[in-house]
Amino acid sequence: MTIQSVKDLETIKEEYRIKLNLPETVKVNIGMASCGIAAGAKDSFDTAKQAFSDNKKIDICQTGCIGYCEVEPLVEVIAKDQPRMMFKNVTKDKIVDIINAYINNDYSDKKIKKHILGQVKDPRSLLEDDMENPQEKVAPLEDIPFLEETPFFKGQVKIALRNCGYVDPDSIEEYFGKQGYIAFLNALHNTKPQDIITAVKESGLRGRGGGGFPTGIKWATCAKHEGDRSIICNADEGDPGAYMDRSILEGDPHSVIEGMLIAGLAIGSSQGFMYVRNEYPLAVKRLVTAIKQATDYGLLGDNIAGTNFSFKIKISTGAGAFVCGESTALMASLEGKVGRPKAKYVHTVEKGFRDQPTNLNNVETYANVPAIVLKGAPWYAGFGTDNSKGTKAFSLVGKVRNTGLLEVPMGIPLKDIVFNMGEGLPGKKKFKAVQTGGPSGGCIPEGLMDTPVDYQQLASVGSIMGSGGMIVMDENTCMVDVARYFLDFLKDESCGQCNPCREGIKQSLDILTAICEGNGKEGDIELLEELGVMIGNFSLCGLGTSAPNPVLTTIKYFREEYESHIRDKKCKAGVCKNLFVYEIDESACTGCGLCAKKCPQDAITGDKKEPHVLDQDKCIKCGICYDACKFNAIVIK
Ligand SMILES: Cc1cc2nc3c(=O)[nH]c(=O)nc-3n(C[C@H](O)[C@H](O)[C@H](O)COP(=O)(O)O)c2cc1C
Ligand code: SF4
Ligand code: SF4
Ligand code: SF4
Repeated sequence: MTIQSVKDLETIKEEYRIKLNLPETVKVNIGMASCGIAAGAKDSFDTAKQAFSDNKKIDICQTGCIGYCEVEPLVEVIAKDQPRMMFKNVTKDKIVDIINAYINNDYSDKKIKKHILGQVKDPRSLLEDDMENPQEKVAPLEDIPFLEETPFFKGQVKIALRNCGYVDPDSIEEYFGKQGYIAFLNALHNTKPQDIITAVKESGLRGRGGGGFPTGIKWATCAKHEGDRSIICNADEGDPGAYMDRSILEGDPHSVIEGMLIAGLAIGSSQGFMYVRNEYPLAVKRLVTAIKQATDYGLLGDNIAGTNFSFKIKISTGAGAFVCGESTALMASLEGKVGRPKAKYVHTVEKGFRDQPTNLNNVETYANVPAIVLKGAPWYAGFGTDNSKGTKAFSLVGKVRNTGLLEVPMGIPLKDIVFNMGEGLPGKKKFKAVQTGGPSGGCIPEGLMDTPVDYQQLASVGSIMGSGGMIVMDENTCMVDVARYFLDFLKDESCGQCNPCREGIKQSLDILTAICEGNGKEGDIELLEELGVMIGNFSLCGLGTSAPNPVLTTIKYFREEYESHIRDKKCKAGVCKNLFVYEIDESACTGCGLCAKKCPQDAITGDKKEPHVLDQDKCIKCGICYDACKFNAIVIK
């Protein structure tokens, strides 16, 4: 069937709303994005499928990732007259018992109870206020928290990630069931392109790929230039630790396709391209399926819904170069040329892909667009701060208890993300810094954790919003080594065509390596600062201009660590191997013997209940004993 109007869509929407929320069967949703699969979700899925293959009343289904990666595999079970329940760590050996417990509504077994994450209070996305909460008439269970009130989810506002974890990414009908393609069809039939652009402008949406350029202004400028216009989606996502875009593509690919369709309609383009990282095979697979489904329903292709608007999308995979995420390099790569940035004397909205006007936006940017068009610019602009409207998805990783993908309103203080949603650091380790903005971002220390997540505010503390990577670091993170790590990454990723970036990064890296190896000398810090300013001011593209950020912010906020590496030849974090030793604090050692048992070098000896001794000649500084000792008796000197 091809869809001609919103009315056609409404019929399928109603049918799938019931299937999604008030199913006749018991619906078991297993989070099957890459993170879930890596944690064993595919095995759980296969096990459940097999165990209940004869039971027509149980439906085993897949979804994308709901974000709480720390406790994958995540499984939600839904039945129309029972509370919807979300379970954590549902490995293949647990899944059958957990489903049976749900069917029997009996969680008295402690082994099952510990897998309960929460009961779902309201599964509607923010776009679904046209229907009643399907959980309204179901009596909640006592003593079980609502999922939305648990630390990781409390305070999140999901717009870009609205459907991730709630729909089967391989089912366009489930996307229809969540208001999918209504914004596009409404716009197609009832809105002038100029008015769509005005709505995007007034929403205040800024590009989520890192630069934060106002999306509506970009669209308006591209629409103004005559030519064979293209719409490109940047899904190259190369920042270490960032996976927002992957999660959206794996969990809700139609939201991005719909965003691109709306952009095509507004800007006057009939061709779309998805430039996806080759390392994201599942995202590519789900996109291929989604594009085919949208084409089969007549939502992509020629003369969509009987109008003269045509739009097709092709997928192209990048070869893993970080610099190919930069707009001009990406377009060169898409043309089959070497992916190398160009000077932007003429902007790509005027002369981009094949020298024609091109609109490039990030995955998350496009995923926001249907929500803005459906709910209106004032609604979207109602979230966030004056200059940073809406919400932002972050991948919270590193030394934090709750790792995962979350979406928060702009303006929320960094500490809320790390210490409330992330629940702080595991164990008794102290917080040291959080890095925002990917390899070119900055490290923000504890004293600045009140900083709101906002483009200007993050820039004012020397960091950037970037695409949304957020790496938490603890007291055992050496900030000089962190700067060295990111520069090492950027040195490899620099395309090498301009001196300040190519030579400047290499020289900075050489200095940082020397400092970490114990060969730092007076003047190195000042030289790094000087090089940083030069690289930042004179490089051609964003890779170079932002490359000094990790060095400059770590010097700014953790200068004493640099000084202690250079002057005292000490790395207090215990990372730079030439600059510290492990010792046993006799007064704290209980003689439990665990360290001796675990040491791979047999470097620790001692009698039971007597203080142990560590032989420096045998020690390779692997840190196993340090992590193992429960009495903090192993110390870094
Ligand atoms: C070195 C470098 C890498 C980049 N990588 C990405 C990327 O992986 N994904 C992305 O959306 N933007 C990336 N960008 C930003 C893009 O150049 C561009 O600004 C963005 O795709 C525009 O979309 P937006 O306005 O929706 O953010 C990168 C920029 C630089 C300088
Ligand atoms: S700044 Fe670096 S990555 Fe960018 S063009 Fe110059 S050498 Fe290439
Ligand atoms: S693990 Fe700690 S307390 Fe136990 S013997 Fe080793 S140093 Fe002593
Ligand atoms: S750091 Fe590693 S090698 Fe050294 S004493 Fe501890 S466990 Fe043994």
